[in-house]
Amino acid sequence: MFIDRNSKVMVLTGAGISAESGLKTFREPGGMWDTYDWRELATPAAFEKSPEKVWEFYMERRRQIRDAQPNEAHKALVRLEKHMNPGRFLLVSQNVDDLHERAGQKNIIKIHGSAMRDICASCGSVLDSADSYNEFPPRHACGGLLRPDVVWFGEPLNSRDLKTAMDWLLSCDYFIVIGTSGNVFPVAQFVYQTEATKIYIGLEEPENSRGFQQVKLGKAGIVLPELIEELCEV
Ligand code: APR
Repeated sequence: MFIDRNSKVMVLTGAGISAESGLKTFREPGGMWDTYDWRELATPAAFEKSPEKVWEFYMERRRQIRDAQPNEAHKALVRLEKHMNPGRFLLVSQNVDDLHERAGQKNIIKIHGSAMRDICASCGSVLDSADSYNEFPPRHACGGLLRPDVVWFGEPLNSRDLKTAMDWLLSCDYFIVIGTSGNVFPVAQFVYQTEATKIYIGLEEPENSRGFQQVKLGKAGIVLPELIEELCEV
């Protein structure tokens, strides 16, 4: 199988692609939701109840993200994007870290938001995250509470992002999914909403594995560069 530069390639990533950069995944043993209770940290009700607790959790994640570096899997996706003709590559990432961006990825939708941005819970202004804040929990100039610009459990995805993802699912030739357990909707359904050639790369079979023509088990930092070299001869 070979990817022509004019093929349309859509990639979806999850926490597994950042694992080799030292960032925790969510549902594996020892993962984020094994260690913490998401109900206390990643819902609007949790933020309402204790913005301080939620901010402490995200400030610690930001520190870890800043200390992490993009790995060979992130870099391989940048090579893939450069191989494709303009407008023929889209990365949809569920990850709220900025490793894809720091690796040099250009056409990316962060469908669960970004832990490296703040949003005002009152006026909706979006700001790059600060290294420190002059009050805690931090507030926006308008007086509203700032929160991490991430999609919490129970919150809707950005409708524009979702429409773009749907349009690509209906028209792409390849749908390559990396490092996501297929547990969280609506993203876990994407594999059933496209007629593309569908390939999964991860450490174990995802919940939605029957949606893929190919499941390649292994570390993304090893399997993905090999796959991209094979598909694109880069
Ligand atoms: N290479 C490839 N895959 C890996 C690696 C690796 N080095 N390490 C772990 N994985 C795989 C695991 O086998 C697992 O299937 O990554 C997957 C991570 O799954 P989850 O922890 O469930 O993370 P994810 O699917 O991204 O979660 C989706 O859930 O909590 C919410 O918003 C959060 O975006 C997140 C969403």
